Amino acid sequence: MATVKALSRSKNLLPYNGLRDWIEKLNEMGDLRIVEGADVEKGIGQATELLQHHPDAPAVLFDSVPGYKKGYRVLVNLYGTPGRLALTFGLPVNLNKADLSNRILELVEGSKPIPYEFVDEGPVLENIQIGSDVNVDIFPSPRWHERDGGHYIGTGSYDITRDPDSGTVNLGTYRVMSMDKKTVGFYISPGKHGRIDREKYWANGEPCPTVIVVGGDPLLLVAACTELPYGVSEYDWVGGLRGSPYPVVKGRVTGLPIPADAEIAFEGFVRQDNKRPEGPFGEWTGYYASGAREEPVLDIQAVYYRNNPIVTGFPPQCPPDEQQRFRAIQRSALLKQEMEKASVPGITQVWCHEVGGARMLVGVAIKQLYPGHASQAGHVAAMCHVGAYAGKYVIVVDEDVDVTNLEDLMWAMSTRSDPATSIDIIHRTWSTPLDPRISPEDKKAGKMMNSRAIIDATRPWEWRNEFPVVNRPSKEWRRESEEKWGWVVNRVDKK
Ligand SMILES: Cc1cc2nc3c(=O)[nH]c(=O)nc-3n(C[C@H](O)[C@H](O)[C@H](O)COP(=O)(O)O)c2cc1C
Repeated sequence: MATVKALSRSKNLLPYNGLRDWIEKLNEMGDLRIVEGADVEKGIGQATELLQHHPDAPAVLFDSVPGYKKGYRVLVNLYGTPGRLALTFGLPVNLNKADLSNRILELVEGSKPIPYEFVDEGPVLENIQIGSDVNVDIFPSPRWHERDGGHYIGTGSYDITRDPDSGTVNLGTYRVMSMDKKTVGFYISPGKHGRIDREKYWANGEPCPTVIVVGGDPLLLVAACTELPYGVSEYDWVGGLRGSPYPVVKGRVTGLPIPADAEIAFEGFVRQDNKRPEGPFGEWTGYYASGAREEPVLDIQAVYYRNNPIVTGFPPQCPPDEQQRFRAIQRSALLKQEMEKASVPGITQVWCHEVGGARMLVGVAIKQLYPGHASQAGHVAAMCHVGAYAGKYVIVVDEDVDVTNLEDLMWAMSTRSDPATSIDIIHRTWSTPLDPRISPEDKKAGKMMNSRAIIDATRPWEWRNEFPVVNRPSKEWRRESEEKWGWVVNRVDKK
């Protein structure tokens, strides 16, 4: 079997090898701060909320956390700037958000999945707790929001499960609540792949083998919170982007593949009848909407961790925040990809708006090519896999509108749509208990569905050529205005 050392020398198209190398790069970019003494009860959560709401804030590595061994760290605000997300994909760090989104799309389209590869050693095996030795309380687990129902060790984390039918391994980011030294609870929304895998085991009367990784490679984490199609393993997707197989070690208890360079991994089984209250938790919609419910827990039978392990923290905040800025860039790229795969032509730009949690407000710009084109684009954006979960409003506009700019999008919607005739509603669509607008009765009844509005704000096809001309100066007019009159705006003396 190849060793990790051998694999780390093998081809890797990315400019870093794993989380620690990536952190070094942040340091070189001036994008890292080390903070000592913040506590898990309040300090880390308070500082993180500020950092995530500030678009230029650095990533922060919390060390010397009171009550924990020095060196047991928490890293937050990983993807807070386009530059750090670009680094994660190995792209130039100075792109604006729209260009970065388009470059990510090119990268994803140009790569082919490469399956993971088992290796016999790796840093994650530096420390192992098995059976009665298991104690996850040694790792710092912050309370992230003021009204959270507990501490969450897993926010920048992912669950590894296997489809018992096809054998495909899934990595999915689902929040993980600390419960006791051998137990964590986690919440997966209906329809998510980890939940589908879990329910297949339960339908066979078996517990679901699960590994939860709470710190590790930054691109694996990006993949784990990305809506890849069911059946595509996040390991293989990342392998494709690296240009080499992701090295994994075999879990002693479940046999599941664990990243050989993971910081911390919990391994065990999830039984259908083993549930405890989970939540409330501050969610990406900006509410504590799903409250506290009984959810399945992981009965941890083995823990693997590196020396001086790092927990990665990625808690959602009221949007727009780090998570939504990151997801807007990435989800817009993947939504455009899926729409093109569904053969919608003429899409010039897609933007999943930060303020809508990168899901609930989507702008699609098209060059209209035929009657009905706008409606087709809007419905596909609302219903394809990347766009389907927890969406609300899709606004389709012509290509002269910059959909990445919220004001431009709202201006186009206000002026080019007619409320009575431009809005299509789709009923009974895929949502989640996290949706604050689903009534308590419907939540109790398990009716996690909402509706979608597709707003056609393109110039109506039939009279598009007679639509009033936009009152904006032409490029030539604007250039001349700036040359002759720019001094007036800039409060400088006339040239
Ligand atoms: C920081 C973060 C936390 C998330 N927490 C949850 C969660 O608690 N439950 C959930 O179902 N989805 C959560 N998501 C969304 C899923 O990670 C995302 O939909 C992903 O595609 C799921 O993986 P899957 O497609 O393999 O199911 C979270 C995403 C992020 C970025």
